Amino acid sequence: MRTQVGIIGSGPAGLLLARLLHLQGIESVILERQSRAYVEGRIRAGVLEQGTVNLLREAQVAERMDREGLIHDGVSLAFDGRSTRIDMHTLTGGSTVLVYGQTEMTRDLIQAHLDAGGVIKYEAPAVAVEDFLTSQPRITYEEAGRRQELTCDFVAGCDGYHGVARKSVAADKIRLFEKIYSFGWLGILSDTPPVDEELIYANHERGFALCSMRSHTRSRYYVQCDLDDQVENWTDDAFWDELRRRIPPQFAERLVTGPRLEMSIAPLRSFVAEPMRFGKLFLAGDAAHIMPPTGAKGLNLAASDIFYLSQALIAYYGQNRADLLDRYSDACLRRVWKAIRFSWWFTSLMHKFGDDPINRRLQLAELDYLANSEAARTAVAENYVGLPFESFE
Ligand code: FAD
Ligand code: DHB
Repeated sequence: MRTQVGIIGSGPAGLLLARLLHLQGIESVILERQSRAYVEGRIRAGVLEQGTVNLLREAQVAERMDREGLIHDGVSLAFDGRSTRIDMHTLTGGSTVLVYGQTEMTRDLIQAHLDAGGVIKYEAPAVAVEDFLTSQPRITYEEAGRRQELTCDFVAGCDGYHGVARKSVAADKIRLFEKIYSFGWLGILSDTPPVDEELIYANHERGFALCSMRSHTRSRYYVQCDLDDQVENWTDDAFWDELRRRIPPQFAERLVTGPRLEMSIAPLRSFVAEPMRFGKLFLAGDAAHIMPPTGAKGLNLAASDIFYLSQALIAYYGQNRADLLDRYSDACLRRVWKAIRFSWWFTSLMHKFGDDPINRRLQLAELDYLANSEAARTAVAENYVGLPFESFE
């Protein structure tokens, strides 16, 4: 089998790339290890930056998002019995974020791509990327238990942290940076009205908590947990009790609880692979970088990688220009490291790191500083709404 761009992974990165290329007449094949139902059922991120929203509009998959997504002007940071609001809209001169689930966005992308005749092969795991330093890269994959081969002009490794694209690169040609945190996030999804109209990030002596949402009737909450904790250790009531303890009393009192639709634990990690391009192989999204979820950057960074990769491939096929492909890795990494930094900083500010009393005093001092300094809040707001996609034309 042959195509122009072979895409491994049908997460947000792979789907968005396929869709943007398709609209420019560039053909692709997506190979996905899981089933469509599995991909469409996965609960993950929920906050879209303006740049991501714009890209989804460009990809012509924004109709439901624009109808159902919730525009948020601000978020609150709760600590020490009080809370401070980051008024993103005012502090950034008009930027906002959109609350719309990654699950919904993925469904929209899959539907649009299949309706337009796009090819997604589900339950077709890629095994390796080969010959990507030549002009004829190949992806070997399995389908119905048989080994197959996809030959392409370019390979986009959009297969997440555990994928095979990055692992196909020789160890001495790639540099990996990694930091593993000593705790995780336990998350619950429930059909209950959110405790507040905006998101609340809470620093508490028992550990971090986050009140988020997917709609006016569906809530997403998280509490910091031990790395070796397991979902089986938590009843719904135990979760709600722990959340109530960690959020300010006025919210705890009006928290509406209900049965879980989903509960899961996510470990926290900062990870970057450099470079993000190896000959004809391009890494994008979680395949190249992951970060702790604090600040909701993972999905948005996958989208900004695809902003650069789609432009570079479109310039190559449309204008016979290879210079954007050459600049892809540097353009992405400049933005990637800033998002990695922000997620690390926000994680450090809001979580419990052991019982070290100086650490908590320093956190409270910084939160107090934020509460009293518009300059400090502006820096948070600028990063939270997403740094601009720099033009690399
Ligand atoms: P993915 O969405 O991981 O997609 C990769 C795809 O590749 C998957 O469908 C996978 O099945 C497929 N794949 C893997 N290996 C192969 C193979 N060998 N062959 C074929 N296909 C393969 N971010 C936030 O901002 N906020 C959050 O709350 C949040 N929660 C998260 C919770 C969890 C459990 C996880 C794992 C991530 C979370 N993230 C969150 C991060 C965010 O979801 C990711 O950054 C985003 O999904 C990245 O998109 P992607 O397309 O790069 O990768
Ligand atoms: C969500 C996740 C995040 O990591 C975050 O910072 C905000 C919201 C969410 O899943 O809703």
